[in-house]
Amino acid sequence: MNICMIGTGYVGLVTGTCFAELGNKVICVDNDPRKIGLLKKGEMPIYEPGLEELVHKNVKAGRLSFSMSIADAIKTADFAFIAVGTPPRSDGSADLSYVENVSREIAQNLKKYLVIVEKSTVPVETCEWVKKTVSKYNRKKIPFDVVSNPEFLREGTAVTDFLKPDRVIVGLESDRAKKSVQKLYGPLKCPILFTDTKSAEIIKHASNSFLATKISYINSVAKICEKVGANVEQVAEGMGFDPRIGRSFLNAGCGFGGFCFPKDLEAFLWISKKLGADFEMLEAVKKVNEEQIIHFVHKIEEALWIINGKTVGILGLAFKPNTDDMRFAPSIDIIRMLQERGAKIQAYDPISMPNAKKVLQNVALKDSVYDVAKGADCLVIVTEWPQFRKIDLGKIKKLLSHPTIIDGRNLFLPENMKKLGFHYSSIGRKSV
Ligand code: UGA
Repeated sequence: MNICMIGTGYVGLVTGTCFAELGNKVICVDNDPRKIGLLKKGEMPIYEPGLEELVHKNVKAGRLSFSMSIADAIKTADFAFIAVGTPPRSDGSADLSYVENVSREIAQNLKKYLVIVEKSTVPVETCEWVKKTVSKYNRKKIPFDVVSNPEFLREGTAVTDFLKPDRVIVGLESDRAKKSVQKLYGPLKCPILFTDTKSAEIIKHASNSFLATKISYINSVAKICEKVGANVEQVAEGMGFDPRIGRSFLNAGCGFGGFCFPKDLEAFLWISKKLGADFEMLEAVKKVNEEQIIHFVHKIEEALWIINGKTVGILGLAFKPNTDDMRFAPSIDIIRMLQERGAKIQAYDPISMPNAKKVLQNVALKDSVYDVAKGADCLVIVTEWPQFRKIDLGKIKKLLSHPTIIDGRNLFLPENMKKLGFHYSSIGRKSV
């Protein structure tokens, strides 16, 4: 089938490339000449494991190409996916102006029946607005359908998430669109749930908000564990055996970040208020997350007493491992709070340092974990990159001015750290 994928961010580029991998002919469109220029040269505008190889393979096979023109790309398309940004506005609502612009441009260039798929994360009722907008500018009255197809890709594992999904959610209103979508997703061999468009839109916001709730829940439990000397890892394990609860997303830490959870939580709260169905519980989820970061900085303060003039080494800057994404990364707030207290910061991240440079000031970016430890008064772990678990702790101990590690991701066992002679403080477990 022919697909026009509008927007080449994380979602659009991964989704477009994976559809090409499934044998479709895909044109990825973006109005940013820099991104299209890079992609045409075979270079990636983002870091996502496995993506580059797949892009090269599908470009070579003639199934994937890049363009700046929606008009050209939808000429032969069976589907036009809208995967443009929906950034947060200052009041927490999503800015839908890119979605509106693209809807208008699709309408003005319609040549034949088209299934328009809303892929960007949007508030409920956006599909209705897309439909109204396309109808308004569709002067030749060409038939079309609008479908909601929220994405559940995680950064860092997005390619696998697309090719082996738990489920595909499709909100639609017509049998014609349903047949096309069934054919498109057929090769993935996963459950496809067809709903109305509003339910599909809510599934996305409700899923991300629920996952964020799990994290704030376990972070609250972690605080109780800290008060009484219990171990949150064991608590999460015990809870997780119950299939109704599940172990995943019960990892206590120094807070969630990224461009999805904080933004989607805000947007879902905003829409619930607008509809007069206040979702107060989500206010608490947000507050717990904000406080968790402050609580973590207090742990650093407890370990160092006076932060002013001390050198703090930060391990991990990206909002999670296997991505170079710094958007809403907890590291940004943690570093800012430490700098406000007079700390000198040196930091290392395996992938995100070029992006970190753009958002962090007065941070000495180092070439390795060991360079960060050298001369630091303590080491602070913010992102759980797998390679950090394998660091040579003996070497780290010698390089640090004082053998102190504050671990925001519970990478090590406190009893082992004690044996090695560290002062070690983590989340929801006894400090040693
Ligand atoms: C999230 C969802 O997991 C995806 O299903 C969704 O498609 C995506 O948002 C989106 O809306 O686009 P992502 O933001 O890539 O994916 O990252 P997650 O793996 O969900 O992690 C989010 C944050 O939660 C990270 O800062 C991570 O460190 C934190 N986290 C996660 C915890 O603190 N504890 C956990 O147990 C799990």
